[in-house]
Amino acid sequence: MTWLVEKNRSWAEWAVARILGVGPVPRHLAVIMDGNRRYARKEHQDILTGHTRGFHKLTEVLSWCRDLGINEVTAYVFSIENFKRPKQEVDGLMDLAVEKFAELLEEKDKLAKHGVRIRVLGNVTLLPERVQRWVAEAVLTTKDNDKCFLNLALAYTSREEIGTAMGELCRGVSEGQLQASDISEELLEKCLYTRGMRDPDLLIRTSGEVRLSDFLLWQSGFSCLFFAKVLWPELTIWHLFGAIFYYQRHYHTLTEARRESLNVRQCMVEESDIDVCHAKFGEKVTAEHIAAQTSSRTERIDAFLQDLSERRINYLKEICK
Ligand code: FPP
Ligand code: MG
Repeated sequence: MTWLVEKNRSWAEWAVARILGVGPVPRHLAVIMDGNRRYARKEHQDILTGHTRGFHKLTEVLSWCRDLGINEVTAYVFSIENFKRPKQEVDGLMDLAVEKFAELLEEKDKLAKHGVRIRVLGNVTLLPERVQRWVAEAVLTTKDNDKCFLNLALAYTSREEIGTAMGELCRGVSEGQLQASDISEELLEKCLYTRGMRDPDLLIRTSGEVRLSDFLLWQSGFSCLFFAKVLWPELTIWHLFGAIFYYQRHYHTLTEARRESLNVRQCMVEESDIDVCHAKFGEKVTAEHIAAQTSSRTERIDAFLQDLSERRINYLKEICK
């Protein structure tokens, strides 16, 4: 078993997990797994060994999350920037991805039993074909599982994600599926790779770096950010406990800020429907006009998003053929 590791916890670990469980526990954890190469250098190993240890640490983190009731994890596996690394390292990481996705699919019955769904966030067209095939296979095989979610950001950066979403909206307008006035923050969000996912509650970056490096910039606006000095392969469950305790200490202000932002966004969408009706009917605008505008906008948007989902799924199905 390589992805679904099961480990016995010490009594102290169980005790702390139970105490933390009394407070709010994040439902979605995002991780920037930084420090693999520094770890390799420290241990006099080659870089790929560092990344392989990094992968093992990820599987361990998944097992801690299962024990703690965190049912969604998003990991920054490979950014678009990482393609600029030496060819040998990039090729090594791609081979590691192929090997691990193949092992993942060997465990597909276990994944189904635990209800694990794998999602891949990023521009998969940038990945070598051999990786694309495994990615597509893993995503399609697990797409109906719905108990816990592992989101792997591969060939991902937030700026590319937002640019791609903007491109989809432009296409929707130019092909007549959408009207320019349908475009809103809410709709753009639904065109991101993370569509339908919960925003991360807690985001951890290891290795002492204190930046987000173009990871989930849109989605983490109201997340708790935790920066740990430890190198990723050296992370322990105690670091995760520390991060959860930090999250609990800030929980109240985080949830207030998130609620406030959602209210503002809802008001913006309603005001946009009123503006469209004013432009059409001037002073004669009625509540019926506004209701009709809201319902036709909702219908157009639903059809557009349905089409977008089908395009993305069909792309993966094509790769698997
Ligand atoms: C960052 O550390 C890590 C990466 C760019 C790669 C992360 C990949 C894995 C942990 C393997 C996961 C594989 C699969 C298939 C899920 P770094 O290389 O930037 O290290 P440094 O900061 O010490 O230089
Ligand atoms: Mg790094």
